[in-house]
Amino acid sequence: MISFDGSIFHLASANSSYIIRILETGHLDNVHYGARLTDLTGYENISESFDLNIGTLPYADEEHPHHFPARILYEYSTAGRGDDRAPSLEVCYAGGLNTLDLVFSGWRIFSGKDDSFPAHALSGASTETLEITLCDALAGVEVRLFYTVYEEEDIILRSAKIINRGISPLRLDSAASYCLDFPFDDFILYSYDGAWARERCEHRRILYPGIVELDSKLGCSGSEHNPLVYLERAATGEVYGSNLIYSGCHRELVEVSPFGKVRLLSGISPYCFEWTLESGQAFCTPEAVLTYSDCKEGAARNFHAFINRYIVRGVWKDRERPVLVNSWEACFFDLDRDRLLGLAEKASGLGIELFVLDDGWFSSRRNDSSGLGDWWVSEEVFPDGLEDFSRRIHALNLLFGLWIEPEMANRDSELYRTHPDWLVEIPGRAAAVCRHQYVLDITRSEVSDYLFDRISDVLSRCEVDYVKWDMNSVLTDYHSVQGSALGYPHRYILALYRLLGRFTEHFPGILFESCASGGNRYDLGMLCYMPQTWTSDNTDLYHRLAIQEGTLAGYPPSTMGAHVSASPGHQSLRVSRIDSRFDVAAFGVLGYELDLCALDEDDTDAVRKQIAFYKEYRRVFQFGTFRRLRSADDGVIWWTASLGDTTIVMEYVVLNKAHTGRCDRLRLPFLDRERTYHITKRPVHIDPACYGSLRNDFHKEGGEDCDITVSGSILCTCGISLSPQFTGNGFFPSTRVIGDNGTRMYIVKEAES
Ligand code: DGJ
Repeated sequence: MISFDGSIFHLASANSSYIIRILETGHLDNVHYGARLTDLTGYENISESFDLNIGTLPYADEEHPHHFPARILYEYSTAGRGDDRAPSLEVCYAGGLNTLDLVFSGWRIFSGKDDSFPAHALSGASTETLEITLCDALAGVEVRLFYTVYEEEDIILRSAKIINRGISPLRLDSAASYCLDFPFDDFILYSYDGAWARERCEHRRILYPGIVELDSKLGCSGSEHNPLVYLERAATGEVYGSNLIYSGCHRELVEVSPFGKVRLLSGISPYCFEWTLESGQAFCTPEAVLTYSDCKEGAARNFHAFINRYIVRGVWKDRERPVLVNSWEACFFDLDRDRLLGLAEKASGLGIELFVLDDGWFSSRRNDSSGLGDWWVSEEVFPDGLEDFSRRIHALNLLFGLWIEPEMANRDSELYRTHPDWLVEIPGRAAAVCRHQYVLDITRSEVSDYLFDRISDVLSRCEVDYVKWDMNSVLTDYHSVQGSALGYPHRYILALYRLLGRFTEHFPGILFESCASGGNRYDLGMLCYMPQTWTSDNTDLYHRLAIQEGTLAGYPPSTMGAHVSASPGHQSLRVSRIDSRFDVAAFGVLGYELDLCALDEDDTDAVRKQIAFYKEYRRVFQFGTFRRLRSADDGVIWWTASLGDTTIVMEYVVLNKAHTGRCDRLRLPFLDRERTYHITKRPVHIDPACYGSLRNDFHKEGGEDCDITVSGSILCTCGISLSPQFTGNGFFPSTRVIGDNGTRMYIVKEAES
């Protein structure tokens, strides 16, 4: 609900209020963003008084000698008028001027939302938008700020449209999607950072005066810093979350001012951004998604609900995602039709639903240095064609999925030999190279038409049900025959969205999964086109704990690809049990990426049971609420997924410690105290070999039993003690043999009353 009473705008959602006032000077000032206010009587007393003098600080004008721009909580900040915090908008207009003073000039409230930016959130039945217009008449700059409220999810979407109302060209040097100023500075900043194979690991930092900038400069949202951030108030635990519906170079900037205020900006990175608007032209920023909650877990829940309802679209929205097998870590480039069919046959027998043919199926692509860009089927691998292969896969009752990497080419390809000028490369300087491949200039229509035509032909003829859209390089050597290098990264992303739009409109039934060297492009922009993302090339179960937790901090499990791979793991050489690898992967969209045909009988049986179990609880894993619980013991990690009357719990034991006599405690503080719960264990097979030379009569197949009925009030408060793990303390029927990097999964259900 959005209202305006002549002096303040109130954007109210179920649990939050966002209040903006118009100052006498015409500037916008944020009065409150936080818990929902139901009665606004006396709201004038919320904001700090202007009745004070501050040294040499500039003020707005002689009539308002105490309106210090450095103290105002702007909705869209500018430079040159005394606010020395980071500007949201930097421009250069006639005469080489950059000072901007944006003042209120109008507003409207309308149902639905502005969809000018190609990757955008969908509207809901009751979505309402506030549009506020600001202008600087001298500079000829008009800025429209959009605020769209999603009441139930406590989400406010923000974006800005900048219009050149002057007669000379207007140059934009930076244009954030929003500015959010807070009147306090006791914040902890959470960011999600990393690199290849350790994407989106959570970092927590206390803020001090100055600026923290998290950004990407390589043409994609990147694994170095995800656009997702949270600010948590140390005093109250309240949390503000921000994410961006964008896949290119972005920047999140947090600034603590000397006056005890915090500014948060997010948007396209100013790095290599320059956009010229001719008279009358407009520039739209990507949409940013803001949420407020009384705790971080609540803020993440808001994001999850919002993404499932308004970011993911098409026939796969809300639909349970299929369990897949992927040929990559099973075969890499060593593709052979009969071997692949053997893998598919085994997969089908185990209950797998989708077979994904990864890299290597086309042209001369027998390794990563050749063939990329040549989108025709390799006769060497598929002598009877890919249509025939796909028919055989479908006959096994499997969906058929295909890997593609449209945006790149090897120099060793027909494509490059025919069109050497199609690469993003500066004439006279060879482009920096990543995995022997180069970025294609998809901003040129002839390039994107070629990609669309060639790849669509394969997708249609082979009746492909799923596509993994990969991108294993970043953007360097910005250059295009079509215009300045400055602004190219943004033009590239707009072209990518156009291409994705063509594919997804043409193939509405295909389930698309985005991938970029693993999780280098896990962002809301890609999720507007592709309901799933490959999380990371690192499938090591221990490493995945941080990667998946960081990902789930802002993205729902229904979007997060998680695979069981071989042991020793290809990224860590860690040896682990197949059941533990499954227990971690089950908290996302499950897949298998190993040679299933090489599994022994026990592991084959384990996989069959895992898949049946996952299918039974798939909705809980993919669409439930994920939580990581605190544990008294650092070496034990607890994950839960809850939906309706069911909670699945995973206990992950990092290191089996020496005998302490203490038992692990399962406490679920979020359950209903008034109900009674029944706890069982997902049965697992304990390989007798794990007992080594201790193997004797004590060892027990099938693992310990678990059948407990307990009140919600006990589970919420004290928790229950699970039976001891084996640490040289002898075997009892209840002893749990978990070991290092071992897991147990429990099913907690409301008991029938
Ligand atoms: C990188 C991806 O992340 C992998 O899963 C795999 O598809 C390879 N590319 C194939 O080249």
